[in-house]
Amino acid sequence: MAMTRDSLRARIETLPRVQLGHFPTPLEYLPRLTEAIGGPRILIKRDDCSGLAFGGNKTRQLEFTIGQGIDRGADVLIGGAGSQSNHCRQLSAGAAKLGVKAAIAVVKDHKSGGGGNLLLDDLLGAEVEVVDVDTQEYLDEAKQQLVERFEREGRTPFIVMQAANRPFGAMGYALAVAEMADQAEAMGERIDAIVTCSGSCTQPGMIFGNKAIGLGARVYGIAPIEWTYDVKEAFQGVLSRMVEVLDVDLSFSEEDIWNRPDYIGPQGYGYCSEAGNKALRLMAQTEGIILDPIYTAKALSGLIDLAGKGELGQDETVVLVHTGGTPALFAYGEELMAS
Ligand SMILES: Cc1ncc(COP(=O)(O)O)c(C=O)c1O
Repeated sequence: MAMTRDSLRARIETLPRVQLGHFPTPLEYLPRLTEAIGGPRILIKRDDCSGLAFGGNKTRQLEFTIGQGIDRGADVLIGGAGSQSNHCRQLSAGAAKLGVKAAIAVVKDHKSGGGGNLLLDDLLGAEVEVVDVDTQEYLDEAKQQLVERFEREGRTPFIVMQAANRPFGAMGYALAVAEMADQAEAMGERIDAIVTCSGSCTQPGMIFGNKAIGLGARVYGIAPIEWTYDVKEAFQGVLSRMVEVLDVDLSFSEEDIWNRPDYIGPQGYGYCSEAGNKALRLMAQTEGIILDPIYTAKALSGLIDLAGKGELGQDETVVLVHTGGTPALFAYGEELMAS
């Protein structure tokens, strides 16, 4: 059963949280991009302007996931992902802002030589360990070793990036939907669909928020990565835990979840795609807004493709969520200049 935006906010407000970002982020109409694509009407939710060390979607999530750690007395926050991880950069910034230590384990991959987000992790004072594993799904052991080392030193470490934390990270995106619903209403806009890049917390949070407040939008998730596990099952797990934590009368099924790996590109996670690079240039040259090549550019390439296929109607209004990631641009200069 739908609830008011304020009652959703009131329930989420009871959870542990730290203040890291600048909210609300702007919601804006993009007239020149809309015209270039030929419809739908495109609005952008500027979560790249969320404020924490170049912004991005992780700010909203970390307010809750770091909140869990701080609530348990943590003085070391542990993360881990691909070398150009935006999550690790924002985790490092959050730790600095809160006066605790960040220790991150990143995959030794084609971008772990330095620059982009890795440079920022270092400037933000994080301890960075580059680990020789195939993908970020194999970083658990490295994160556990960090935990054990800090415990031996008498500190209180907390792994921020772990499955149990995802439902809390997703709370930030349930709130983001209420925020954009308020903004759209004030602008006299409706929201027929939301398009976001997501592989773990962002889209489930939006699916939850959308249903909770009865917005009635379709939420499309453009996956940046193909996990070895089933994404729909993982999202359903996040959604049912959110229901449990917030004690609300809502239920979710597979039909609520649209998340596809179709726009990742042939080289996979962490590599540019041709359509993404084209979309990045189109956004830059029609609206003066910079996307990143690995997440948000692929989200826009998905939006354009879905519009071409009629899945997003010409007379509909679609919100593209700019989930950030722009510092990684500078690690992809060569590929982008060649595109
Ligand atoms: C810029 C950007 N957009 C989107 C995502 C996807 O977010 P999530 O995995 O929380 O759904 C990420 C992180 O993986 C990201 O860094």
